Amino acid sequence: MHRLYLDHNATTPPSAAVVDRMSAVLSQEFGNPSSVHYFGQRAKAVIDQARSEVAALLGADPSEIVFTGGGTEGDNIAIRGVAEALEPTGRKHLVASSIEHEAVLNTLKAFARRGWRTTLVPVDQSGIVAPDALRTAMAEDTALVSIMHANNEIGTIQPIAELATIAREGRAVFHTDAVQSAGKVPIDVKALGVDLLSISAHKFYGPKGVGALWTRRGLRLQPALTGGKQERGRRAGTENVAGIVGMGVAAREAMARMTTEGVRIGALRDRLETSILAHVAGTALNGAREPRVPNTTNISFDRTEAESLLIALDLEGIAVSTGSACSSGTLEPSHVLKAMGLPVHRTQNSIRFSLGAANTDEDIDRVVAMLPAIVEKLRSLTRTPVARRL
Ligand SMILES: Cc1ncc(COP(=O)(O)O)c(C=O)c1O
Repeated sequence: MHRLYLDHNATTPPSAAVVDRMSAVLSQEFGNPSSVHYFGQRAKAVIDQARSEVAALLGADPSEIVFTGGGTEGDNIAIRGVAEALEPTGRKHLVASSIEHEAVLNTLKAFARRGWRTTLVPVDQSGIVAPDALRTAMAEDTALVSIMHANNEIGTIQPIAELATIAREGRAVFHTDAVQSAGKVPIDVKALGVDLLSISAHKFYGPKGVGALWTRRGLRLQPALTGGKQERGRRAGTENVAGIVGMGVAAREAMARMTTEGVRIGALRDRLETSILAHVAGTALNGAREPRVPNTTNISFDRTEAESLLIALDLEGIAVSTGSACSSGTLEPSHVLKAMGLPVHRTQNSIRFSLGAANTDEDIDRVVAMLPAIVEKLRSLTRTPVARRL
């Protein structure tokens, strides 16, 4: 069976160039980048090149890039690092949006257990944070605001430049989780006006377990790990050389393809979305149509349990998701759709389709051709009383 992957927001397959370069680095650049000798310096040189490539993706200076163990780690280093650096000043209030990834939400919860105040900024059905809602959430002692660039479940893009200005007016540090926007839409840290920005390589055809945190020069940040002086003392531990190099290659490829791929994938996504909404009764789009990353659509299917639809599609060779990968496998409704105020039947009946590099027009035709009958069958089963089904 030809399997179709439509879950690129969960992860992407590393590109051929990433795999080739990583395997060469694993065997050839095995030195410890902190070593003074030839082998160490070779490893350091390939990391430096990757640092420039990742910096270019973000419009940043290479010296401001800290390589991390992925998006979750970048979010943690940013939030914990700022909060702990500012704790002695008496600023003990953290703000985030209610639709953040668990990496941010659970870090705020950890600080709440330590006696910090935390505020989650609400969103409406558009899934976009209104600047006025952030203004209301700010307090005298707000240390940090963390609002994601693009949402992982519905793809909406937040007005980061405007939100960062509000945080700055309140003398708070601003962090954005750009894990779902990096490589999909242009990012310029200076134009966004943020202090910290985290990204993850496996969301743009790089390897898993490696990411980067951009930090504005001069920002006070308590190191999350204590150890050696790697990454200017901000992330101790011998570097994941092959992973970092793979991320560099992925960043370079993303830059080169972003415009053409954005248009191509956006057209596929729009056709998929429009066809589903037109040909499957009782469907609705979740969140605003624009601004969104071009690859994502999230649709609710009335009277169709999302988990059953996911499994039925998987049996036909089509991989989708019910929301964030971390919460799939549980029947918990999506916290993002809940925060948007959608009724229970929609928070539990929604499917995320996230497209990527290998997807084609034929793939979309296949999903569109199959979906109405699959949904109809599931709905007829639900209508049948349990006793008759047995
Ligand atoms: C918005 C967002 N932030 C953070 C993460 C975590 O990134 P990682 O898997 O690299 O830890 C994800 C991954 O799903 C994400 O979508």
